[in-house]
Amino acid sequence: MNKVTSLFNIQYPIIQGGMVWVSGGKLAAAVSESGGLGLIGAGSMKPDLLKYHILKAQGLTKKPFGVNIPLLYDKAEDQINCALELGIKIFFTSAGSPKKFTNFLKDKGALVIHVTSSPELAIKCQEANVDAIVAEGFEAGGHNGRDEITTFSLIPQVRDAIKIPLIAAGGIVDGRGVLAAMALGADGVQMGTRFLLTKESSAHDNFKQLLLNAKSNSTKVFMKATIPVRLFENNFSQELQDIEDKYLNEELVLKLNEHLGKFRAKLGMLEGDTANGELEVGQAVSQIKTIPSVAEVMDEILNSFQDNRDKLPLKL
Ligand SMILES: Cc1cc2nc3c(=O)[nH]c(=O)nc-3n(C[C@H](O)[C@H](O)[C@H](O)COP(=O)(O)O)c2cc1C
Repeated sequence: MNKVTSLFNIQYPIIQGGMVWVSGGKLAAAVSESGGLGLIGAGSMKPDLLKYHILKAQGLTKKPFGVNIPLLYDKAEDQINCALELGIKIFFTSAGSPKKFTNFLKDKGALVIHVTSSPELAIKCQEANVDAIVAEGFEAGGHNGRDEITTFSLIPQVRDAIKIPLIAAGGIVDGRGVLAAMALGADGVQMGTRFLLTKESSAHDNFKQLLLNAKSNSTKVFMKATIPVRLFENNFSQELQDIEDKYLNEELVLKLNEHLGKFRAKLGMLEGDTANGELEVGQAVSQIKTIPSVAEVMDEILNSFQDNRDKLPLKL
């Protein structure tokens, strides 16, 4: 047992990150069944849809799983209440202040883990009384920190800054990555992109197939002036770039919001329009060449963790 496995009462300190339109009840349950911790990505879901996914996961596993609530959406409070009513006790919050719901959730007996991207913000999370922190480096898929700190630089700094359990995220897709994160001071890992490319994820097959041919430079961070997000480059990301090049300041924010408010994330990731939809994915995607089941991914991670640990030079 380590700090992360005992906190969640799971077998391996491997968490499947919440992923809007990609991590529904089926994926979360499969990860929990395989000994990790699955998270349903509430994203911008209406509470009814979130309820559907929670009930689905509860029907598929009796093991612990949680929900990820990005606090930037106005539905966050309703999503939280919906999850509490259904008995959810593990909340990963992101994209907002850790102070907002932590005390409320802890009073209800829930665990609260907040996602952060710098040592300074990690200290604020600890002060807000969260149970653990996810420190997510700039390599990660989806929304990114403004400070652009990469995982290798981030994890040791956060380790030195906080005492509570530390979960590393960003660019980790196999056992080597898990080993490296732990060597840097993490107690566990959160992986998104690797679990996106599994049979159980709800990402559209067009999106998955496209990612199998990703190159090392296929992703880029867009919207740095507003809400930075790492995307696979396509027509949609080019449109975002054109807006960023054309408009300044307040007008830019307006134009970007206007462009995003067209259900582009759902269009790309769930419905499979890989040209015109928003495709969130991490920089390490080009290391992944298969779409296995979650159980196979977990086996692979555990085997490559052990192999690589045994191969480490014992002396410098
Ligand atoms: C398709 C996709 C959607 C994501 N959506 C969310 C989200 O809704 N909320 C959140 O906190 N993080 C989100 N993330 C970030 C993941 O939870 C995770 O921290 C990240 O993927 C880790 O980096 P990796 O992709 O290199 O494994 C998303 C990531 C991806 C790839």
